[in-house]
Amino acid sequence: MIKIAEPVERGLLRKCAVDLKELKVEPFTMVIFGGSGDLSKRKLMPGLFHLFDAGELAAGFSALSFGLPQKDDDAYRGEMLEALRQFDSPPAEGKWEGFSRNLYYLPSRFDDDNGYEELCRRIDRISVRDQAGKTNILFYMAVPPDMVPLIVGKLKKFNLCKGPLNARIVVEKPFGVDSGSARELNRTLVDAFDECQIYRIDHYLSKEPVQNILFFRFANFIFEQIWNRNYVDHVQITVAEDIGIEHRGSFYERTGVVRDIVQNHMLQILGLIAMEPPVGFSADYVRDEKTKVFNSVRIVEAEEVDKYTVRGQYGPGRTGGEEVAGYRQEKDVAPLSLQPTFFAAKFYIDNMRWAGVPFFLRAGKRLAKRITEICIQFKQLPLRLFGAPCDPNILVFTIQPDEKISLKFGVKYPYSVDEIYPVNMVFGYRDTFQMKARPDYERLLLDCIKGDLSLFVRQDSVEAMWQIVDPINARWESMPPRNFPNYAAGSWGPREAEPLIGESGRRWFTS
Ligand code: BG6
Repeated sequence: MIKIAEPVERGLLRKCAVDLKELKVEPFTMVIFGGSGDLSKRKLMPGLFHLFDAGELAAGFSALSFGLPQKDDDAYRGEMLEALRQFDSPPAEGKWEGFSRNLYYLPSRFDDDNGYEELCRRIDRISVRDQAGKTNILFYMAVPPDMVPLIVGKLKKFNLCKGPLNARIVVEKPFGVDSGSARELNRTLVDAFDECQIYRIDHYLSKEPVQNILFFRFANFIFEQIWNRNYVDHVQITVAEDIGIEHRGSFYERTGVVRDIVQNHMLQILGLIAMEPPVGFSADYVRDEKTKVFNSVRIVEAEEVDKYTVRGQYGPGRTGGEEVAGYRQEKDVAPLSLQPTFFAAKFYIDNMRWAGVPFFLRAGKRLAKRITEICIQFKQLPLRLFGAPCDPNILVFTIQPDEKISLKFGVKYPYSVDEIYPVNMVFGYRDTFQMKARPDYERLLLDCIKGDLSLFVRQDSVEAMWQIVDPINARWESMPPRNFPNYAAGSWGPREAEPLIGESGRRWFTS
């Protein structure tokens, strides 16, 4: 299949270039559509509160929740306090008082024009202008994806996008369900906003060890020399979770592992590992290079999907010493659901740097442990000088939970004649920096507030990532699996994932 990349409007994209060091936190109003929902309670409110608590927000900020059910400002403040207690930690009383007086609630249906008229009045009333006299507004779409076009249409109709306001819009994944719907969604968004007003969130990009991939690659002379098909045998990316789908059965029934994790988080990591050095470190230079990688990933033809991918769904099992239910027994999941919760695949990137190097990706729920890591395995020596063959050198980026980078190499076992012993040289974030990791959403919110697009995903990348997974989803959906559930909760996934990587003695790596 020949892929034709959608043309990118260079002029439009270049307008997003800004000097990151110049960006400041200004007064702003964050309008949260769906501000009473799960995302607000678990991530947005705790994130905003901690930024306030750390003195990172300018005086003159406010958060206005738009949606149903009916309630007033005080009830909303009480509900958010409860959410912090439940999902985060109870805030100190004095601090909460200071924070919560900036929270407001506007009860309205998303399709009700009266609600948007009232929104215009409220924005006028509660917003504080910045020093340049601008009103900064952040529209946060904490709503199901199918609500986004409706809300964006209304924002446009009421002149809230490009008119007198300095507006930004934040959109959560999934950005569509395939390339067609993603293109449609993007059309709706860019019809109302400029690309540089649009913040598409992928929270993996805010993880410090993920960001470090580029620093490691492009700040260290020795690694850049060997980062190619001449030296690298293969690459593995694992996003393993020990949790199941938790309270999100109906979401997961619509989504599945490919749309939930692979199309976004995993491919973003692949982009950072495989991209060429960017012209500079501003958002668009980095995004240009990642998009080139996505456009170079070989599309798996429909008839080859079964050869290059493995799918799975967890059954009952044991994890953390406890019996846990299978996917089909989870709340809001159909008793005979065919939704995959495990994915493994072999990809090739058809460019000069990576031709012939396999990239193995593996992701799943209810696996043996929680670990996100990237393993770069180098080629083996062409001859054997010592007794046994040397193990290959392996460079591992552990993104979570124990953030580190390690390099495996062989040394002489003391007092042996020719015995090689594999050891690891390790850089651990905690030991070196002794800092508490900042939660992903705090970092992302702060970047939206400041106007730094570096960690957000651009329209052309989103569509290119869908083009990689669309044929896999299409094949999986048209050929229902006969053997689900095919792995036990607490295991490393279905047995079929082993032969996928097993050629030439390769095997899945887990530190
Ligand atoms: C989300 C997915 O995007 O990422 C979840 O929707 C998944 O299903 C989560 O559990 C994983 O994020 P993290 O940061 O815990 O690895």
